[in-house]
Amino acid sequence: MTTDPALQIQNLTISYGEKEVVHDVSMKFPANQITALIGASGSGKSTVLRSLNRMNDDLATVDGQILFEGLNINQPDVNVYQVRQRIGMVFQQPTPFPLSIYENVIYGLRLAGEKDKRVLDQRVEESLKQAALWDEVKDQLKESAFALSGGQQQRLCIARTLAVRPEIILMDEPTSALDPLSTSQIEATMVDLKKDFTMIIVTHNMQQASRSADWTAYLDQGRLVEFDRTAQIFMNPQQQQTADYLSGKFG
Ligand SMILES: Nc1ncnc2c1ncn2[C@@H]1O[C@H](COP(=O)(O)OP(=O)(O)OP(=O)(O)O)[C@@H](O)[C@H]1O
Ligand SMILES: [Mg+2]
Repeated sequence: MTTDPALQIQNLTISYGEKEVVHDVSMKFPANQITALIGASGSGKSTVLRSLNRMNDDLATVDGQILFEGLNINQPDVNVYQVRQRIGMVFQQPTPFPLSIYENVIYGLRLAGEKDKRVLDQRVEESLKQAALWDEVKDQLKESAFALSGGQQQRLCIARTLAVRPEIILMDEPTSALDPLSTSQIEATMVDLKKDFTMIIVTHNMQQASRSADWTAYLDQGRLVEFDRTAQIFMNPQQQQTADYLSGKFG
């Protein structure tokens, strides 16, 4: 690995009730890179992803360590609210709130108590620019977020996540509800965001993984089969299982 990990999981084992669905997974997510989690439906991708910012707290038992800046954030005394500010999440379906575009972007800042209008205005512009949405919405910031297209709504949700300035952004199939044009806009946005953020994405779209991700992890039935540079995984996988999965996906 050439870069420092922004986040590292060690011996992650996750169960829903009695059912263990993720088995002893360890990996490092390099800083300022995109890592894709791929694998068949039910292989545990979302379960792993949601654990990284403690979104599984009420649903699952998560054993093992999640190391973030030297701290194991998978401990009961860790402030989950702070974890989620620093490790943000974008969901599969665009989830704008029934508010204006402007209020959607600064939702997290308002929750954190920010009232200075200059700070809020500046953060709205910055975040919408980072999410490649500013030019399209700058004259309608006070209008409802529901007036936007699906692809615009998803970029708005990305802007909302960026506005609290996280270090890491988790995305679970961020484009699966979108058309090809919106998908390529989001992919371009993701690649652009790498300079400032570390991204971990779940995708079923192998072209998307090979186009945008620097690193790819292949999961099967809750086990990490292979993790390597994306080019290596797609061109020269070391595990037969990975090769079989990918040839099925592309073949
Ligand atoms: N809330 C839940 N309660 C119980 N079991 C769950 C829950 N969520 C997921 N599971 C189970 O955990 C396993 C992993 O599911 P997960 O959603 O992580 O897979 P996935 O790789 O994201 O699949 P997909 O590609 O379909 O989104 C599956 O067997 C699933 O049925
Ligand atoms: Mg999933």
